[in-house]
Amino acid sequence: MTDYKLLAEQLKALAEDEPSYIPVLSNASALINQNLDDLNWAGFYLIDNDSLLLGPFQGKVACIRIKLGRGVCGTAVQNDETIVVPNVHEFPGHIACDSASNSEIVVPIHKNGKIVGVLDIDSPSINRFSQTDKEGLELFVRTLEDVIQF
Ligand code: SME
Repeated sequence: MTDYKLLAEQLKALAEDEPSYIPVLSNASALINQNLDDLNWAGFYLIDNDSLLLGPFQGKVACIRIKLGRGVCGTAVQNDETIVVPNVHEFPGHIACDSASNSEIVVPIHKNGKIVGVLDIDSPSINRFSQTDKEGLELFVRTLEDVIQF
């Protein structure tokens, strides 16, 4: 089990040293990759006009741009809500960057009242992300929003 409170505290401590978004998002993706089991991709997409642009991540090479409203990431932005996908093969329009992915969670990130990007995490297991993971990762993203500077 991941200790999400500790994970959020670690992120806060790292960002206090240097709040710029590239190091914060890079270390945030590494923290997630080190502290959650059974993942094959963890990283960020950032809003760039009418699309999401690939940001810092851990995992295999991924799609560089995703149109808003497309895929799990673009849908999470459009709906402004966390999306947990138990089985990506059953999500209409899912974009398969890594064929190993079977489940996914996407959490929107806000700054100054606007969505600036998403946290995207993939797992090779079906139904990897529980309600506890959803709440823990939302806490992680709320902490990120408080400390990061763009
Ligand atoms: N599966 C995502 C695309 C990004 S990769 O998972 C890294 C989607 O459908 O939006």
